[in-house]
Amino acid sequence: MTKRLWDITELYFDPKRQHHYETLFTIGSGYLGTRGAFEESYPGDTPATLIHGIYNHIPGALVPELVNAPNWLPINVTVDGTPFQVILNVDKADFMTPPNGLALGYSRSLHMDTGLLQREVLFRAASGNIVRLTFSRFASLHDQHVMAQRLTVTAVDGSPAITISAGIDTHVTNAGARHWSADRQIKASGSRCAVQVTTEPSGYTVGMAAALISDYPTHGITEGLRASMTISFTLQQEESRIIDKLTAIYTSRDVINPLETAEAKLEEAAVIGYQMLFDAHCHEWEKYWTTADIRIDGDEEIQRAVRFTTYHILIPTPRYDERASVGAKTLSGLGYKGHVFWDTELFLVPPLILSQPHLARNLLMYRYHNLHGARNKAKANGYQGAMFPWESTDTGEETTPQWSDPQPDGTRIRIWTGDSEQHISTDITYAILKYWRWTNDREFLLKHGAEIVLDTAAFWGSRVEYNAEQNRYEVSQQIGPDEYHENIDNSVFVNRMAQWHLQTALDLLEWLRANAPADADRLTTALDLTPKRLTHWRDVIAKMYIPFDREQGIHIQFPGFFEMEYIPVPKYHPRTRSVQEIIGHARTIQSQVIKQADVVMMMALLGEDLSVPAGLDVRQVMINNWNTYFPRTDHGSSLSPAMHAWVAARLHLNDEAYEMLHHAAHIDLQDNKGNVRDGIHAAACGGVWQAIIFGFCGLHIDANGELALDPHLPAHWREVNFNVYYRGEQRTFSVKNSV
Ligand code: BGC
Repeated sequence: MTKRLWDITELYFDPKRQHHYETLFTIGSGYLGTRGAFEESYPGDTPATLIHGIYNHIPGALVPELVNAPNWLPINVTVDGTPFQVILNVDKADFMTPPNGLALGYSRSLHMDTGLLQREVLFRAASGNIVRLTFSRFASLHDQHVMAQRLTVTAVDGSPAITISAGIDTHVTNAGARHWSADRQIKASGSRCAVQVTTEPSGYTVGMAAALISDYPTHGITEGLRASMTISFTLQQEESRIIDKLTAIYTSRDVINPLETAEAKLEEAAVIGYQMLFDAHCHEWEKYWTTADIRIDGDEEIQRAVRFTTYHILIPTPRYDERASVGAKTLSGLGYKGHVFWDTELFLVPPLILSQPHLARNLLMYRYHNLHGARNKAKANGYQGAMFPWESTDTGEETTPQWSDPQPDGTRIRIWTGDSEQHISTDITYAILKYWRWTNDREFLLKHGAEIVLDTAAFWGSRVEYNAEQNRYEVSQQIGPDEYHENIDNSVFVNRMAQWHLQTALDLLEWLRANAPADADRLTTALDLTPKRLTHWRDVIAKMYIPFDREQGIHIQFPGFFEMEYIPVPKYHPRTRSVQEIIGHARTIQSQVIKQADVVMMMALLGEDLSVPAGLDVRQVMINNWNTYFPRTDHGSSLSPAMHAWVAARLHLNDEAYEMLHHAAHIDLQDNKGNVRDGIHAAACGGVWQAIIFGFCGLHIDANGELALDPHLPAHWREVNFNVYYRGEQRTFSVKNSV
């Protein structure tokens, strides 16, 4: 496998795509993420550093958001007095000596094997002298409080006078929203500078300290909201200089004195130096890739794309923090305001369970620590147990906005997901069960996981409604995965998953009684799992309404679905917009157009355990479901294509499976939804990994508790190799194509 399959490279700079690349080229350490904005900035750029857990709710704003931290990237260079910028085009008259300089060459690569972002620019100053500038940066995976930058300046033509000014800028906002109070510490002296800022009103403090490391006298200065350090020197033709900038960061979530701790950490890092920091960082990346990398022989395009999606699963996931989780847009953009959705548990957690189980555990612990918020939500809505918020932040309370941002006509749209998208509690339970089955982490299950599974089951026990006339249980006013259809009754996804949830909870309780009786007793008392309540659960399981059309042999997404307007989605191919955008919101919600995998999602999660009426062949029902719902699906959500790829592979629909995988794997790289500027589509990244491992390779735990494969690889793939953890042991798989 050639090395270049580890790189994503931008060969020329197109200002129209700068926000797209800022997102793609985000670096991260599981503690923070920093978008790939230029060190020297560029007009209209959107630099952002997002740190886990640092949320703030500005009075008057609808909801809290993850706060853009001070910018640690700035490195400004002047060459013979010309400020370096990526200037691409100049007036013909100025071509030889453009007054603002000219970029003669440009390339930028994200090296995914080492999490290193590198840019090389050949720059001609107004004086005519030419320099090569190579910028490198990484956020240390070995020490999450350290970030490092290196600038190599080479005189290619002439003997230029170079000035470098590097620092930290606290003049940052979230697209205009100001989160940092006016009370800031900003200081600089010699080759060191530092800042400390505090969010208002949430009161989180961030301290950052930076050093500029060179052989030259360095002057520290503060200017307005920025602290910086400056050096000057002259290069002889062909001479090179390496200048390093190191930055350390702490927040009040870590320590009581973030600024002092960052300053001390900086001195430690300065002694170690860039190269050794980088070596230690690479060592950690190597460990990540040993179990996270999927090696595909026969498809270079997918190989690179899958490394890219896997990279973006790894960089935002907290390594040492159980009280933070990964938002729908990771730490790579302001989209969805850093809020955590079901995307985490059903899309990101499974790849981590198999590749980095300790990271999966951290994410599940976030839910455990926020059980209080789920209990508050259940209570506030008149239910029992724990009902997790659809969108969650640092408090664990529901933070879904009730209204959208103003539309072009000034009106706002009511957002119902926080009220009605209740399947998230089951999604969390599903992830816990998966974690338990694959890791055997008994301690987690007994101390934390079981409580979540049982208390969210208690929620469903109180949430279902008994229809005496039909002698069945129903669930009204729901939003299933298909968010185009809001506040519907009896979503088959919701009803079947709730039934599965209750059964899982009963099985777990029985297992606890046999294997950990003290914990079973403790939880029975604490969660009030009375015999009456458990009998009720059994009754719900037996009588849950699962909408099904016997004649067609299909699940019904929800009663009434097929009575709405039928719109053949494939008729709109090829398209760059969603069908919803093409036909309009009002018509979409009255039609059979489905936003994303819904019944198909249920098939991905439950496989053949679908609850199909006796006498029917489950595989046939699955095919029928696919034939019914796939042509109606818009893929208006990035969560959709990977789930379709997974299910299609299981159903041996090879062409559809590959088409959907290709789509999912390129959502961010090709920006085929047009919104990558807002951040990476985390769920799509996790979905791609699962589609390959669970779908194409068919990795599963068999009836004897052994790992087994059932591969259906695309015809042109020769081989897929990967490692996973199973019950504490690393296992290696090599799947050869038999086609
Ligand atoms: C999808 C949801 C998803 C959310 C955040 C929405 O567009 O429909 O399923 O949780 O985006 O990614």
